[in-house]
Order: sequence, then C-alpha cells, then structure tokens
Amino acid sequence: MRTKRRRERPLLGVVAVPGDKSISHRALILSALSHGRSTVTNVNTGLDVRATAGALQSLGAKCTIATAGGDTKARAVVEGLGLHNLREPSDVIDVGNSGTTMRCLLGVCAGIHGLSVLTGDSSIRARPMLRVVVPLRAMGATIDGRNHGDRAPLSVRGGDLTGADHELAVASAQVKTALLLAGLCARGSTSVTEPGVSRDHTERMLATAGADIAVDGRTVRLTGGRELAVVDRDVPGDFSSAMFLIGAALLVPGSELTIEGVGLNPTRIGALDVLTEMGADLSVHPRAAADEPVGSIEVRHSHLRGTTIEGDRVPGMIDELPILATLATQAEGQTVITGAGELRVKESDRIRALAAGLVALGAAVSETPDGLVIDGPAPLAGGEVDSLNDHRIAMSFAVAGLVAEDNVKVRGWSCVDTSFPEFLDLLGKAQRR
Ligand code: S3P
Repeated sequence: MRTKRRRERPLLGVVAVPGDKSISHRALILSALSHGRSTVTNVNTGLDVRATAGALQSLGAKCTIATAGGDTKARAVVEGLGLHNLREPSDVIDVGNSGTTMRCLLGVCAGIHGLSVLTGDSSIRARPMLRVVVPLRAMGATIDGRNHGDRAPLSVRGGDLTGADHELAVASAQVKTALLLAGLCARGSTSVTEPGVSRDHTERMLATAGADIAVDGRTVRLTGGRELAVVDRDVPGDFSSAMFLIGAALLVPGSELTIEGVGLNPTRIGALDVLTEMGADLSVHPRAAADEPVGSIEVRHSHLRGTTIEGDRVPGMIDELPILATLATQAEGQTVITGAGELRVKESDRIRALAAGLVALGAAVSETPDGLVIDGPAPLAGGEVDSLNDHRIAMSFAVAGLVAEDNVKVRGWSCVDTSFPEFLDLLGKAQRR
C-alpha cells in the first residue's frame, strides 16, 4: 500500500548555482595552455571538471581545485606551461564519465609529442569518438582505439599537426573545441563549420586570451602558433544546473524563485524560449559582463502547455531536454521533440531513459527514433526509476518526484555529483524559506 506523501513546499527566495561546467572545463584547459599562473573562481567542482583537472596534471600542468566553504566560492589555480610544453603522460588518463574531458583532451593530446592513452567509465567507453578522431587524424595525429578508433580506450600519438578545414556532420561544441585546441598547436589555419549553432564558449574564451580567431556565421577559423595570454576568470553560474531549479519552481505551487549570477550565453539558453512558449512565468535580467553574458532569472509557479521542439533548436537546449520532458508531462496538451537523436549518445541513451522512467511514474510518453512525444498533464504516481547513471536524467526524475503522489526513488543517484553535487542542498534551501 502506498502512503500519500506530504505536499511539497514552494521554492522561494534567491539562490546562486555553482559555476558552469562547460566554461570550467575550458577555463582549466586554456589556463594550462597559457604560460603562467591563473585562477578560476566559481569553478564547477563536480567530478567531470575534476577529471579535466586530473588530466591536465597528468600532462604536467599543476591544477588544484579548492572547494567552496561559507561565503567563499570554489577556486582553481592552474600553473600553465604554454602551447608547446605539455608532456607525454606517464599513465593512462581516466576521464571518468566526462565526455567533454575526453573529446577536448583528445584535441590537446593531438598537439603533444608522444603517446597519450585516454579512457573512462563504461558510459564513456560506449560513446562515439570517430566524430573527433577522424578530423584530428586529418590534421596529422595518429589515433587508434576499439572499433577502429570510435570507442575508448583511445591512444593518441601527437605532435606535428597541420591546420585543416573541417565540416562537422553534427553540431557539437565538444568536437569543435577539440579541433580548435589542436589548431592552436598546428601549422597554418584550422576552420570548423557546423550544421547548427552549438555553444560558443571556446570561441569567446580563446578571443579573450588573444588567440588569432574569427567567427563567420557557422564557421570559426583559428590560426595556430600564437601563445595564449594568462587570464583569471570568474565562471558564471551553470544555466543547465539552474534549469532543474527553474523546473522545480514551475511545477510546485506557490513557488517564486530568483536564480542570480547565472550564465545567459545565447547559445545555451534556448530552453527559456521553449518555457515562454509553454506559458512559463519567467523574467530574465541580464547585466553587463565580460566575455560571457550573466544575469538573473525570476521564475514563478505556472500552468504550462505543450509545445513543439524541432531539430534546429536542439543544440541550444541539448542538455535541457530531459528537464523539459519532465515539465511536458505536467503541461496541458502534447509536446513533440524531434531531431534530437544526439540524446541517444549522451551519458546515457536519454530518449530511452526518459521514456522508461517517466512512463514508470505514470506519464504518457512515447519514444521516436529522434525524440519524444509527451501527452499531458498526467498525474504522476511515484515509484522507482533508473537514472542509468546519468546526472541529468537523475535530476529530471527528482523534479518529477516533487509533483508525484508518492515518493520517487531514483536509482544511481550519486551520478548527480558529476555536474551538480549541490543540487539537493540548494533545493532544500529554497524550500525551507
Ligand atoms: C558540452 C557540449 C554538449 C553538451 C555537453 C557539454 C561542452 O555536447 O551536451 O554536456 O561543454 O562542450 P556536444 O557538443 O557533443 O553536443
């Protein structure tokens, strides 16, 4: 027999989310590639960014992360060695669950004379890597691995790279970043053209560091050889993490939450347009910032309606689709997500994970080859669901749990530590007000 759970308390007040994961990875890597000491404040302290810090250490760049305490923000200190002084690692580099570490480091290692071997957990070892391996080979790196180089462990024999023009089959900021990082050490110029608009943190941060880089529509071109300037950075709050709190506030009656200091890079916040179409009561307040737009987002409990999310909008909300799917189960009418096949090759097959978990909770969700069809609003009963060890799936199910009749138990919950270890603390804080 199920026990009826108490009504959830509203989310109230002002919260700040920890630093952006994508920007944190890039800040550490660019710091390691510049010559001298840089500090990165409000760095993301999840396991993925720690994997990047560990990998850079293996390549000879001292990189330490001190966690936040009291009012102090987490801070990384990196002793960079410049473009050509990272060295062959003495052991296999383990990136854990982090796709961004794996793909970006492949680009870095392609520029290092010597052999680097990279591997990761079972999810990483199942993810496609040819999308980055093939263009890096075209620049002169020798890369091999399982499945002819499509699966980690991967070995990279780097050095002597020559710039090349790359046309990507899928929009991917990870691949674009890997190729630009390799391009920094290559002779001549490297360009990357994408079929869609992926996040542009790398381009912005390289420009700030003085790289010879220019963006023209969906093409970015970089000429290698110029050393990067040492830059101290303050990382904006992670919009992708903020979306789980925004989602919770939209669903729980009485909520009125402000998230401050959050990154508002236009290539990241496509989910806000979708939420507005769905009828969310939201307001966004940008403030002047350096190379990355930052501001606050106010959100109030709202009655949502279904919407359509098609392929060309997907890269701008790729990591937010799981929480949007949860919200769609509570929206009036149908939500259709198409052109999102990339979700199948993330930390888990997110289309399968979402359909299985949300249906188990009582939602009306069906899978398509490249998306989901969700009919709402459906009362959620509660029960046990599997995160497939995917942080964004786990947090999406936790938010569903806020409006389920009974408790929701998420299997593999500890995976949340990869990006947002503070999630439950911040949710609890917002609900205690
Ligand atoms: C990321 C890019 C995205 C995103 C991932 C982080 C990045 O992946 O899904 O969580 O930091 O560059 P793709 O670039 O492969 O789409």
